Amino acid sequence: MKTFIILLFGFVSLWFPFDLPAQTFFKDVRPIIQRKCVSCHRDGEAAPFPLVSYDDLAKRATFIKEVVQSRYMPPWKADNDYVHFDNDRSLTEKEIQTIVSWVDAGAKEGKRNVRENQPDAAPFTGYGRAADMTLVTADTFLVKGNNRERFVEFKIPFELERSFNVEAIEFYSNNKKLVHHVNYAVQIIEDPAIDIHAAPAIANHTDGEIRYNDPYKKFKRNMAYYGGWIPGASAEAYPPKIGWKMPKRGVILLTVHFSATPIDELSVNGVHLFFTDVPVEREVKVVSFGSGGIGELDIQPSFFMIPADKVSHYSLKFKNPGEDLSMLYIWPHMHYIGKSFKVYATLENNDTIPLVNIPDWDYRWQEMYRYKKFMKIPKGAVIHMECAYDNTAANPFNPFSPPQNIFSYSNMKSDQEMMTLLMIYLPYQPGDENQHTAINNEP
Ligand code: HEC
Repeated sequence: MKTFIILLFGFVSLWFPFDLPAQTFFKDVRPIIQRKCVSCHRDGEAAPFPLVSYDDLAKRATFIKEVVQSRYMPPWKADNDYVHFDNDRSLTEKEIQTIVSWVDAGAKEGKRNVRENQPDAAPFTGYGRAADMTLVTADTFLVKGNNRERFVEFKIPFELERSFNVEAIEFYSNNKKLVHHVNYAVQIIEDPAIDIHAAPAIANHTDGEIRYNDPYKKFKRNMAYYGGWIPGASAEAYPPKIGWKMPKRGVILLTVHFSATPIDELSVNGVHLFFTDVPVEREVKVVSFGSGGIGELDIQPSFFMIPADKVSHYSLKFKNPGEDLSMLYIWPHMHYIGKSFKVYATLENNDTIPLVNIPDWDYRWQEMYRYKKFMKIPKGAVIHMECAYDNTAANPFNPFSPPQNIFSYSNMKSDQEMMTLLMIYLPYQPGDENQHTAINNEP
């Protein structure tokens, strides 16, 4: 009888864990916020308010619960079950549960761990050291406060004493809140007959006249590097001995998508460069396919039309004709009416390699997705792009009301469309499939 009672007690206390300590900010929540939110939610970055101190979070607790439960924040559009990328910033189920139960239990502050002497300021520092060189536009750009988004291209000419090995590049802006996303191309121009300082320094595709002629065409013959920035991204960096070379002479073409703003603001943009003495033995290469690229086509590369009042599907495939490749980053790109974007490769033996899937495209949250390990694309593999566009009135991002036929002329105008896939890769070397893409080969 006694044994029975004791057993019963044990059982009951398992069911009523009444002394389970409540979640607190310092113990449970702050580590998650620092890993997953602060890269954008801190001063000078893209998000509208900081999420650094206890007060920053406590005053928005219910709001934060909503956005993490709906997975609106942190923004992450790739399907992790298709491919799980190294730079995944989404929350795990467990992390969401921790934040939710912390809010439900009254968003307690708790005690700062006495052993830690960490200030509230985030430990996040971009690339973590001063840049070796910063190149910015010659003039500040006035972003008019008329609540209009705009695409603007800037040309930054440069002439250096020699070329440099680059280990990382990072977008610079005096005010990242004004910037939605950015692409930049570093163009090599050796021919002294091409004047890198020739006008225009700015091509404003939104406020200026509509241009079907590319004013920068003559600079786009030999590209050393192509990269980009979206909110939350820091530097594009490469493991030792892998990277690219900053040429002696050329231009940087920076395409900036500015967010709508209600007041006039000044913007200065450019790049930070981080050089290394370790010679770059393997130079990364960039290729783009689709509109604005090359490919073996189901649709025209530079011009296509998406009819109004319909959801339309397009596909495009191209073969890797030459050598085996190791892919590091993949970057799908569309504009406002994009709906989904899927990429995979098929091999000669009929195997399929999943490459990226964005089931619910949102032009605001684009990403250069980095594979965990080098992704081998064998010679002869066929890469398939499958894209859908929602050009109906039901798409809240449709730039036209009522919907109109939308075209792609391969330029950056935001009320036109693109179907572009960018890949950063290396020629394959044996063992690459076990090589981590992360800087310093951290697991
Ligand atoms: C990649 C950058 C980025 C990351 C990472 C990020 N946010 Fe945001 N967040 C933004 C931007 C930009 C906005 C404003 C635009 C918007 O609301 O769509 C925003 C808006 C918000 C809002 C207001 C939403 C609204 O409807 O106005 C909340 C709340 C929020 N974020 C919480 C979080 C939390 C909590 C995390 C981490 C779990 C997080 N964010 C991670 C960029 C980010």
